Amino acid sequence: MNKKRFYVSTPIYYVNDKPHIGHAYTTIAADAINRYYSKSGADTFFLTGVDEHGQKVAKAAEKAGITPKEHCDKMVLRFKELWTKLNVESSAFIRTTDEEHKKIVQEFLSKMYEKGLIEKREFEGWYCTPCERYWTEKDLVEKCCPDCKRPVERFREPDYYFLMTRFTERLRKIIESGEVEIVPNFRKNEVLGFIDSGVDDLCISRPKQRLSWGITLPFDSDFVTYVWFDALINYYSATRYLAGGRTDWWPADAHFIGKDILTTHSVYWLTMLMALDMPLPKKIVAHGWWKCEGEKMSKSTGNVVDPIALIEKYCESDSRQAVDAFRYFLMSEVPFGLDGSFSPEAFERRWTSDLSNGLGNLYSRISALICKILNKRVNAKLQEDDALVLEKYKVYMESFQFSRATETIMAFIRSINQFIQEKAPWSMPQDVDAILSRASAELRLVSSMLYPFMPETALLMAKGLGLSEVASLDSALKPFEVEIQEIGHLFARPLSKESQISVGTLKETKEKAEAETKITIDDVLKLGLKIAKIESAERVAKTKKLLKLVVDLGSEKRQLIAGIAEGYEPESLVGKKIVVVTNLEHAKIRGIESQGMLLAASSAGKISLVIPDDEIELGAEVR
Ligand code: MSP
Repeated sequence: MNKKRFYVSTPIYYVNDKPHIGHAYTTIAADAINRYYSKSGADTFFLTGVDEHGQKVAKAAEKAGITPKEHCDKMVLRFKELWTKLNVESSAFIRTTDEEHKKIVQEFLSKMYEKGLIEKREFEGWYCTPCERYWTEKDLVEKCCPDCKRPVERFREPDYYFLMTRFTERLRKIIESGEVEIVPNFRKNEVLGFIDSGVDDLCISRPKQRLSWGITLPFDSDFVTYVWFDALINYYSATRYLAGGRTDWWPADAHFIGKDILTTHSVYWLTMLMALDMPLPKKIVAHGWWKCEGEKMSKSTGNVVDPIALIEKYCESDSRQAVDAFRYFLMSEVPFGLDGSFSPEAFERRWTSDLSNGLGNLYSRISALICKILNKRVNAKLQEDDALVLEKYKVYMESFQFSRATETIMAFIRSINQFIQEKAPWSMPQDVDAILSRASAELRLVSSMLYPFMPETALLMAKGLGLSEVASLDSALKPFEVEIQEIGHLFARPLSKESQISVGTLKETKEKAEAETKITIDDVLKLGLKIAKIESAERVAKTKKLLKLVVDLGSEKRQLIAGIAEGYEPESLVGKKIVVVTNLEHAKIRGIESQGMLLAASSAGKISLVIPDDEIELGAEVR
């Protein structure tokens, strides 16, 4: 049987400025999925790198008074240093100034030219230098670039055009049919909309008299290649010279990108490949943008989050904890695909609740019990149901729903904590061995599932259980022998240079934010609303308002505790279809777990369930 393979890429980052949280986000996500597949036994290739040509970089170098190449050589170190710090282990790092890359770009151009797919034309238009693209008069917003809102300049020049329009009809079919999948699905409509709005041929050259920092066109030495045309080819070129002698990695399984560069990837890149009859990447996965405390990050506002500075701020906690907490925060705080907002408070809150109170406590509790009661040793064995947790986690990982994957791990941690609480092994029940056997095997499964997000912490957990490495996902289900090792604190509370933010301040900030913030469509899309059918309903003993419901979401069943007993008799609810918030943190209400929330309206004491108007499949998303 062929070994599964997985090739993931990040965008290549412009070296005009130092890296920020947005760059770290995609790269950590790509590192996580790469670690996930390699722990699942696949052969993997993970590519990142830098985009070094073009106007932006040339201008930054000019400002610094050095040559573009000198500037790139300096800046590239910043990116490499950050990836080392964040424990990002890419298989290859590409620079578009690599001679091999330049040669492959020229080969691309020559082949297209020979096929008659590149034409020289005279063109006049409005040019936005920061975005490196032309706009038509009607695109402009108050004479400025519609994207970055900066002034545009009028240019008239002969240029070379890639006859992209020849491929757009086929491209439409490819995107529509899912032959190339755009993830998340709602972004697919954006791409189709863009194609339908009318795509022009693509200008792929810049005259050297205006910009000389680029790859010379093989068929006209007065021109350099448009930086996007050069940059997109990196995904292919790297597979030809940066994969340790192996040259069969193309096509990529997933290009991870930010939502702002979806068009360049799904329209320019795919048609470029189609023009040369090359295989297409399987998925383009577009994530949302990070803001800082609700504001767009910008240098002028001074609110750009610098990952290195952030990690150094938490130097009182050791670097492993700060790095892993940062990685975990980015992956768990917002669904991949939607926008998020960074704030030190949100970061510390998640660190404290999930990592110190959840993971850290669980680990120290179980390891201490095994040391004390069983003299450090136990034969660890999972219970059967735990395999289901792993299955669920795999589904989320393989559909790039990282926040759901981390929530699955956290729910698992809560369930282990609850199990320990209920069984009270410290009171030495008869089955104390079996209790700690199960709990320690579950800890190893937690470490394997956490590994993509928090590699160092996962390894430390495994070492604490007496293992030499993090178990692969499949072997994490098998029995093994635990011998507890001293590892110190797995996860303590965040300790920053500045004094800790008090709970009161946190509450105030939250209330203020709620009062002031208008939510965006991305916020709305964060809600995982789905159609479910009520299977059973019963009153919660000793309460007037609460009902315990079991609802069917098609793919799974959930238990909900809902405050609707004053409006509905339990029997009348069975069979009704309702709307459920499925991605709400699970909670205990009167000691019973509630795994979501139903939607109901209330007014003047009357309660009315929100119900779909027509027959609709269970699990259908509500938007
Ligand atoms: N060089 C091009 C990409 C070429 S890929 C063939 C480029 N570089 S960039 O450095 O400007 O941006 C790289 C990535 O960073 C993009 O995916 C962009 O979405 C992402 N981000 C930039 N700011 C961001 C946030 N504030 N939040 C999340 N990601 C953001 O574009």
